[in-house]
Amino acid sequence: MQETLLNVIVRKREIQGHDVVVLDLARADGASLPVFEAGAHVDVHLAPGLVRQYSLCSDPADASSYRLGVLKDPASRGGSSHVHDALLEGRELQISVPRNLFPLASAAQRSLLLGGGIGITPMIAMAHALHRQGAHFELHYCGRARARSAFLEQLAGAPFADRVHTHFDDEALAQRLNLPDVLGRGTRGTHLYTCGPAGFMDWVIEGARQQGYAEDHIHKEYFQVEVDATGGAFEVVAARSNKTVQVAEGQSILEALATVGITVEISCEQGVCGTCLCDVLEGEPDHRDVYLTDDEKAANDQMLVCCSRSKSPKLVLDI
Ligand code: FES
Repeated sequence: MQETLLNVIVRKREIQGHDVVVLDLARADGASLPVFEAGAHVDVHLAPGLVRQYSLCSDPADASSYRLGVLKDPASRGGSSHVHDALLEGRELQISVPRNLFPLASAAQRSLLLGGGIGITPMIAMAHALHRQGAHFELHYCGRARARSAFLEQLAGAPFADRVHTHFDDEALAQRLNLPDVLGRGTRGTHLYTCGPAGFMDWVIEGARQQGYAEDHIHKEYFQVEVDATGGAFEVVAARSNKTVQVAEGQSILEALATVGITVEISCEQGVCGTCLCDVLEGEPDHRDVYLTDDEKAANDQMLVCCSRSKSPKLVLDI
């Protein structure tokens, strides 16, 4: 099925915190964009074969534009450097309609939003939504240095500014995030949301588990993951297509399937977004993604074929 794409222009562009570009994308004719939910992202089509996902960080109630914040990554595989170098004001581009893989839980009595670095982006949209609902929440923004951090002005001027707490590594110890204290103030109805560098997220998630947070109260969005493509060869049977393919060492299942004409819808190719999820009929996957929960991985009845491999010599997939 052909994906619906939106034609937009870069209406405004600003560098914040040295290496974050903040872009406002809008329709060229000023028409409204589709409504989005807090936590949603869009696929940004940067060039043929170069698609990247970025969280929306504007107020979901504002349909006039979408705001994105993109950190310039020195190890960029092309995405962030293209955004920084090529997406200038007035530039036309295509984006997907917003998709939400990081939604707010409707039943939360209290929400803790913990963003590290550029991981603050989905938290800003969440804070707008929670504020509008009159919900009980706190937003904690952690970073290495205030001078290198984006969105500080936007947060200081936000209607929920009194809920925002900033924590910077280069400032006084007293303002650092006291994680056990912040998590400990949570009740059983508290939902935690975190996004940021993997080390930051692991620290937050582990802290929450130690404090007894239920897994379904810990919501996380990874924005960058190292895909481990190492591992031996195995066989994949595409049951519905009635085709069998060998997956070579270092080759992804996705790449192997493409050699026999089977295409699977993909987006991030990093095991983050869930787009390439396939049902497993037989065999034991070697899960390498950060999308499935531990329970879902243990069930071994579905897998992400852009990054995961096989522990068994043969996998049978429902494709
Ligand atoms: S394409 Fe995103 S998880 Fe596979």
